[in-house]
Amino acid sequence: MQSAFKGGGEAAIEKQVAMGKMTARERIVSLLDPNSFHEYDLFVEHAAKDFDMDKKFLPGDGVITGTGTISGFPVCIYAQDFTVAGGSLGLMHARKITKIMDHALKLKVPIIGINDSGGARIQEGVNSLAGYGEIFYRNTKASGVIPQISVILGPCAGGAVYSPALTDFVFVVDKISKMFITGPEVIKSVLGEEISMEDLGGAKVHSEISGNAHFFSESEYECFQQIKTLFTYIPWNNSKKADPFPKKAPRSKVYDIEKIIPTDPRQPYDVRNIIKAVSDDSDFFEIQGSFAANIVIGFGRINGQTVGFVANQPLVLAGVLDVDSSDKAARFIRFCDSFNIPLVTFVDLPGYLPGIDQEYAGVIRHGAKVLYSYSEATVPKTTVILRKAYGGGYIAMCSRHLRADFVFAWPTAEIAVMGPEGAANIIFKHAIANSDNPEEMRKRKIKEYRRKFANPYVAAAHGYIDAVIEPAETRKVVVHALEISSQKSERGPKKKHGIPPF
Ligand code: HXC
Repeated sequence: MQSAFKGGGEAAIEKQVAMGKMTARERIVSLLDPNSFHEYDLFVEHAAKDFDMDKKFLPGDGVITGTGTISGFPVCIYAQDFTVAGGSLGLMHARKITKIMDHALKLKVPIIGINDSGGARIQEGVNSLAGYGEIFYRNTKASGVIPQISVILGPCAGGAVYSPALTDFVFVVDKISKMFITGPEVIKSVLGEEISMEDLGGAKVHSEISGNAHFFSESEYECFQQIKTLFTYIPWNNSKKADPFPKKAPRSKVYDIEKIIPTDPRQPYDVRNIIKAVSDDSDFFEIQGSFAANIVIGFGRINGQTVGFVANQPLVLAGVLDVDSSDKAARFIRFCDSFNIPLVTFVDLPGYLPGIDQEYAGVIRHGAKVLYSYSEATVPKTTVILRKAYGGGYIAMCSRHLRADFVFAWPTAEIAVMGPEGAANIIFKHAIANSDNPEEMRKRKIKEYRRKFANPYVAAAHGYIDAVIEPAETRKVVVHALEISSQKSERGPKKKHGIPPF
């Protein structure tokens, strides 16, 4: 019993600590409520025989599994123990993980996986691969039923990365997390390219470039605080709602909505301040803040209830939709829809990003994910158009046409096929060219176009928006929209499943 608790022994633990890492057991204890952890399968042993494996004792077969609570919230959890055969995954190690995953799905509580492993246990061959396959299958079955959280606290290499990729939120820690399909050695031998593990698959790479990670932190302790915060916003499973919190007004002295948007329509501003001006206590828990920052996603509360915010960010690329921002938004919308979290969307974008790179990277397919996920979502959907809503961007950002329940627009909203400058150049081309003073004529036509189309009133006249509201009224109308749609229940046509533009 004592030796099973000690994992891979003193030397291996010292090596783990020297790398700035906690042990698997310390991680579980730090993350869960004090004394809440119940461990299972401590005495499971591997059954491998090849390569002298029958002479090796691997405590717990390199993984710790059990149940516990986080701020009273029940969870199933596993943590790979790198001190035992590098946390490598053999048959029994995988069986422990799949057993706790089965529990999570049956009991309808979230599953947390702490990854720290050299991957498939080489000595166990196809049994290791089978183990991964069983995990991926369960990740897929559990998707949209229970929240699935992956924490990368060491290497996560090869096919092992696909379990985190199938889960809802991936947490990484600077200098500790390493995720890649093929490591530096393979890349060097196949392609002749040299790169360090950190530059290939470190925490910053996945938080800023690949978008595989959702939360970045400087230490394991900070990472666990982030996980605890996340659990305050989400429900246990897809048949529940997130627990309500006491209602709180926004801190309007700090976040004064009237002062956030500049008077010049081309001047950028930080849309996160609009979110904070509307959310309870001006609280906003941002997700993927450093990836595809032209769209902002995250959780907040309105009148004590969790909502998912999606907002174009004028500070970055004028808030356009592109390949990465579309992927980021679409996935978040689907999470919120699966877990009964209402969506609040703030719109200010000039449209989809033009460019050869974007077209070649498949902006058509990726952009379509936003249309698909908003159209598919049946949770309450409230949209506020702040400034620009042009072209496909207008439609995609939870317009009435994709079945927003409520669409509001500020008087500053410009809803049109394109911006006045571009539009005037096209439709008044001849009038401008034939004029004695083309520049003067161009300005006049832009003004004429702006007056006629670049405002919210044409859309309001068609009923595409429900009301033109003053910025200061935003919270009040969103609160009402959410209250009145709290019993919303909508079902789509019967089908096995849709075919989103993956
Ligand atoms: C068996 C392994 C192992 C593995 C590590 N160990 N990885 N044992 N199978 N995959 C063992 C080591 O032999 C060593 O045992 C102990 O764990 C610690 O490993 P070290 O190499 O000493 O640690 P470190 O220097 O920190 O390097 C960590 C590492 C390296 C970068 C992760 O171990 C490594 O490159 N491992 C192999 C990674 C890999 O290629 N995995 C297969 C990926 S393919 P002793 O007894 O000496 O302490 C894959 C396919 C899955 O996973 C497919 C699913 C679809």
